[in-house]
Amino acid sequence: MSSRYHETYARWKADPEAFWADAAKAIDWVKPWNRVFDAKAGVYGEWFVGAECNTCFNAVDRHVERGRAGQLALIHDSAITGTQRKFTFAELKAEVVALAAVLEDMGVGKGDRVIIYMPMVAEAAFAMLACARLGAVHSVVFGGFAAKELATRIDDARPKAVISASCGLEPGRIVAYKPLLDGAIELSGHKPESCLILQRPQQTCELKPGRDLDYAEKVAAAKAAGRDVPCVPVKATDPLYVLYTSGTTGQPKGVVRDNGGHMVMLEWSMGNEFGVKPGEVFWAASDVGWVVGHSYIVYAPLFHGCTTILFEGKPVGTPDAGTFWRVISEHKVAALFTAPTAFRAIKKEDPRGELIGNYDLSGFRTLFLAGERADPETIKWAEQKLKVPVIDHWWQTETGAPITNNPVGLGLLPVKYGSPAVPMPGYTVEVLSDTGHPVETGKLGNVVVKLPLPPGCLPTLWNAEKRFRSAYLDEFPGYYKTADAGFIDGDGYLFIMARTDDIINVAGHRLSTGAMEEVLAEHPDVAECAVIGIADAMKGQAPVGFLVLNAGVDRPVAEIEKEAVALVRDKIGPVAAFRTALAVKRLPKTRSGKILRGTMQKIADREAWTMPATIDDPAILDEITVALNQRGIGV
Ligand code: COA
Ligand code: AMP
Repeated sequence: MSSRYHETYARWKADPEAFWADAAKAIDWVKPWNRVFDAKAGVYGEWFVGAECNTCFNAVDRHVERGRAGQLALIHDSAITGTQRKFTFAELKAEVVALAAVLEDMGVGKGDRVIIYMPMVAEAAFAMLACARLGAVHSVVFGGFAAKELATRIDDARPKAVISASCGLEPGRIVAYKPLLDGAIELSGHKPESCLILQRPQQTCELKPGRDLDYAEKVAAAKAAGRDVPCVPVKATDPLYVLYTSGTTGQPKGVVRDNGGHMVMLEWSMGNEFGVKPGEVFWAASDVGWVVGHSYIVYAPLFHGCTTILFEGKPVGTPDAGTFWRVISEHKVAALFTAPTAFRAIKKEDPRGELIGNYDLSGFRTLFLAGERADPETIKWAEQKLKVPVIDHWWQTETGAPITNNPVGLGLLPVKYGSPAVPMPGYTVEVLSDTGHPVETGKLGNVVVKLPLPPGCLPTLWNAEKRFRSAYLDEFPGYYKTADAGFIDGDGYLFIMARTDDIINVAGHRLSTGAMEEVLAEHPDVAECAVIGIADAMKGQAPVGFLVLNAGVDRPVAEIEKEAVALVRDKIGPVAAFRTALAVKRLPKTRSGKILRGTMQKIADREAWTMPATIDDPAILDEITVALNQRGIGV
């Protein structure tokens, strides 16, 4: 079958407003829009202006009303505890309505923020949907972040309430969430009025009288009282959620997602890009704390009437490298979406893919990979072992849905290894030089998207419009800066090669080296530091910190290096995967004092490098090389 991609993309390009108005027919609106797109509204224009809607209604209620009440909506599969819980759309609605009633009693209403700090349990999805039902704005914080990171988000979002749990489960380790939550509220200037805590049997926690409420108790009471909470109509342009993502400083960026455009884009993507039909099972093996979890664990599959899987476990070790195949066969998964690192982990444990043979994967059609560069070797391995198309696609927290993809729903285009394929409708992707001029086909440059961004992309940053403009819009007027570097080939395929800022990608997790440097600089013995991301066979990249110690420090260097590692884990969290700190005499700099992180990274990765013309003292690069060799880094 030939692909309908080119014709579809051309139809969008010819009349974007007509295209998105047509896509919007798949959504139930309380009130239609006055204008599909208002170029004068917001920072760069707004979609579906004047419309009213409710995201929870589109994810849950409408399916109950229209024949899917008895269909499974959500499967919580915990490979860590070996348990499963299944919810039909009717059962999902009952859980969400009861929780919305509890939140209402806690004083949460339209526009209020609620922080959700939860492990991968079904209640995390209920919490997001209950907020959406009330028109409240949720902000999910990933469980692998430490108290200080949570505190920063509490201070920025100023939530009325927090929904959390007693613990999360990592292989071989129970992560006590409550002390982290209490610690964060202690640190934050803003104090949420109440916290709703889910007690998990693996480790319960003390509830603070007057502030903490028991999730199960309150929800049971709301159900017993037969409480009903209708979906609150909100403006299409009202915020649905704020999701914090790494920026270039320790202050994360609050990416805002609106209600209307988000629904239109995600619903469109499910059929046309991911090629799944209502009633099928879709599995995004990610975490609700990341954008992939928001878009493709919770919202998109539910908008589309699919069954979604919320998986608590790892690709390996819970209990083995066959877990993914077990989930696919047991729940009849049609499409899986995960990060390449998960497949690298599986490939390492089971290089011949022998465990695959133990399962019936006959219903499995497509594997989608995103979140980091998908190396061709991993893609080829997955293709050979699974015998399905393996599709690399590219997007960001900011966009909420793919920018480029190989749209299997419209008909698969030829796969080019190393490329996340072609722009989706809504996106004109270009590559510009640092001075803002288009570069030649095939030449590396700054990857940018022509404004306006399509429905579902961030309209701004939470309480930080100036930062939104300076971080994304100012450098290349008329364009959104993705901060990725790459090139477009003669067939229009994009290749993403690197970030142009200090963001690194560790196991598909987006981390700021600048934020790590800020933490390391707090160590009393550290005079100066630099953090770079070096190549890691499994996680893609791994952070390495270089420390210049204060003059006169006479404690053992190894002790200080260990403290530095502990400090990052304590302040940012285990997710930073910061395991290597290295004391060096000096850092290489330009004559104007800029640390030459790029050159250090090339040296560490044993890549070819040239002596920067502006370097202050070339001998320092030799010192760095010796320090790396002594520790066996990159060899
Ligand atoms: N709560 C608490 N701690 C968490 C956590 C959470 N939700 N998620 C991760 N961590 C911890 C891990 O336990 C680990 O701690 P450790 O230093 O004590 O071992 C640390 O954070 C680093 O985690 P990670 O980088 O994920 O490494 P890992 O060794 O635990 O797992 C993979 C490696 C490849 C198996 C894992 O990263 C993975 O499954 N990735 C899939 C991709 C993915 O989910 N990407 C998200 C975007 S699509
Ligand atoms: P996040 O906002 O966490 O989704 O991270 C977005 C960043 O991850 C992008 O800006 C890229 O640097 C990287 N990324 C995501 N998907 C891909 C991909 N398919 N190929 C290469 N890099 C990717």
